[in-house]
Amino acid sequence: MDWRTKILSSKARARRDYQSLATPVYRGSTVVFDNQTSVNDGWDQAENGYSYGLYGTPTALELAARIAEIENAHRTLIVPGGQAAIALVYFAYCVSGSHALVPHSAYGPNKEMAEGMLKGLGIDVEPYDPLIGADISSIIRENTALIWCESPGSVTMEVQDIPAIVKAAHDKGVAVALDNTYSAGVMFDAFAHGIDVSMQALTKYVGGHSDLLLGSVSARDEKAFESLGPVYRQLGLAVSPDDCSLALRGLQTLAVRLEQFEKSTLEVANWLDQHSAIKSVFHPAFPSCPGHEYWKRDFTGSTSVFSILFQDSATPEQVESFVNELEIFKIGLSWGGVNSLAVVYPDVIRPGKDYAGKLVRLNVGLEQADDLIADLEKSLKSNLG
Ligand SMILES: Cc1ncc(COP(=O)(O)O)c(C=O)c1O
Repeated sequence: MDWRTKILSSKARARRDYQSLATPVYRGSTVVFDNQTSVNDGWDQAENGYSYGLYGTPTALELAARIAEIENAHRTLIVPGGQAAIALVYFAYCVSGSHALVPHSAYGPNKEMAEGMLKGLGIDVEPYDPLIGADISSIIRENTALIWCESPGSVTMEVQDIPAIVKAAHDKGVAVALDNTYSAGVMFDAFAHGIDVSMQALTKYVGGHSDLLLGSVSARDEKAFESLGPVYRQLGLAVSPDDCSLALRGLQTLAVRLEQFEKSTLEVANWLDQHSAIKSVFHPAFPSCPGHEYWKRDFTGSTSVFSILFQDSATPEQVESFVNELEIFKIGLSWGGVNSLAVVYPDVIRPGKDYAGKLVRLNVGLEQADDLIADLEKSLKSNLG
């Protein structure tokens, strides 16, 4: 055999019994089969054997299995990001003519997708009050195919009465999906509370270091998994095995990071709650957070993200300048990593509420809480007296 062919058709192999403690990074698009009879082209490789890298290499499937284990899910699919996870859920449950419900407090691009692509495809997504509870029953229609929950909600942090919403939905045969990113899939047990599909932006706490984008979609049972799988295949939601490897590494320290986040975040939030420039702290563990009673009842802890509402007397310019002058807190939209972040939401829309220019979302990282408080104190003093 010519050396050029030998390079491409090599029989040289390292031993295959290396038992690494860490999950290896399997890169690969193409799977080779022993013979034609064993060729399979299915998306469910964990069940039916490997077929094609698009449906995950062993690195992605191992991450999927670990997320399923942690969330007590039937099965999990790994997708390129949290927003891809949201899209997968919509397309798994809704077809042209379907109606879906999404809370006002849902992640912005979820609502954008509702108003944009989904509307164009004839899927009618109606926003609802996140604190609606059992009354959601009154807005479920004949053609309602999906109810989204996100608890706590994005930016305004409303905690939802999930068991009440699930009961009303299931009484009418409607599936309920949850964006469980805030809880890292662990502080709120989605499936014990009746959720059908739980998704996370693994980009946040599981990744944990602001260096990857991934999402997960976890199914309660085979019925939910079978709804998701064909759409996952058709959308071609391939993930990078390198990112999955980083997420697997992130999982190893998730517990210690979450423990520290909860402690530091409560310290910072408590300090801000006492400050005269702050009107309200929207942190699920605080009675001032809408739906705090459901957090107390249903969650096992809190994490790193919360919002502060400035007094009515604060001007948007003062609030912006406060954020600009922070030194340890960086200005950024994401959260769940090791760095503290702050960002003004100048136009967060919640019916009946005017937060324009007065609401700042904070993410507390792993810096020392005293230093973070000193950073906030300095900028508050300089900008709001
Ligand atoms: C609550 C929530 N869900 C989903 C997402 C989307 O995740 P990704 O950025 O991985 O697409 C985000 C991102 O900020 C989020 O905050």
